[in-house]
Amino acid sequence: MKKEFFTRPEKITEQWCKDAGWFSWQDFVTAMPWPVFVVTGWKSNGKENACLQSWSAFHGVGTDGLICIMSVVNTSGHMYRSLKESGGCVLNFPSSDVYDRCIKTIGNNEFDTDEITAAGLTAEPAVKVNAPRIQECFLNIECEFLWEHEVCEGSQERTVALKAVHICMDSDRYDQSKLGRYGKTGYLFQIDQPTNPETGERADIPCGVIEPGEHIEWKTK
Ligand SMILES: Cc1cc2nc3c(=O)[nH]c(=O)nc-3n(C[C@H](O)[C@H](O)[C@H](O)COP(=O)(O)O)c2cc1C
Repeated sequence: MKKEFFTRPEKITEQWCKDAGWFSWQDFVTAMPWPVFVVTGWKSNGKENACLQSWSAFHGVGTDGLICIMSVVNTSGHMYRSLKESGGCVLNFPSSDVYDRCIKTIGNNEFDTDEITAAGLTAEPAVKVNAPRIQECFLNIECEFLWEHEVCEGSQERTVALKAVHICMDSDRYDQSKLGRYGKTGYLFQIDQPTNPETGERADIPCGVIEPGEHIEWKTK
């Protein structure tokens, strides 16, 4: 049975949303999966910056363009500053085998730290933009800054658009008969505390992978 949700369910308290880092109750009810990647760039002191990111969308424009819309970027973080200063960054996609190290970039977020190296990952120079990229990630998308917009009027967060200018991908991932892009060795998705709005019960699913589905006949009429 489908239920209507007009306001925050009692079981998802305001404090709970704040404690989670200002998530909304709608985040916990919908609990949509978002692709996980690490945005890398140089800080103004020449040190490596790495920022885990998930709320984003990717789409092609024409036959020769890929745009990334990072829905929410914190303007007080290093990533926003590095991107505005250098005009470029790299989006690095980890598979589950290196995710534990990517998470360590959060705890090594000081201005004077080389965050990629401190997390036990390998920094290598990007090919087309002025930024480091993460060798262990199976896909690196090098991007240039396009535009930004306030998420809501007066909000500290920005929606940021990037244009891909170069792609580097592990050949075993784009060969579906080898590792492929999906399943346990492919793209990772962030899942934010899926919650039952009636009981408040939370499922312990911090992240996920996607399994190829069954064929559905493409009949539009
Ligand atoms: C899985 C995951 C996804 C995240 N996604 C976002 C996001 O979409 N937007 C955001 O502003 N912060 C996000 N964060 C938080 C940032 O990664 C975190 O605040 C980071 O330390 C900021 O780094 P910076 O100072 O280099 O910008 C995410 C964190 C995790 C663990």
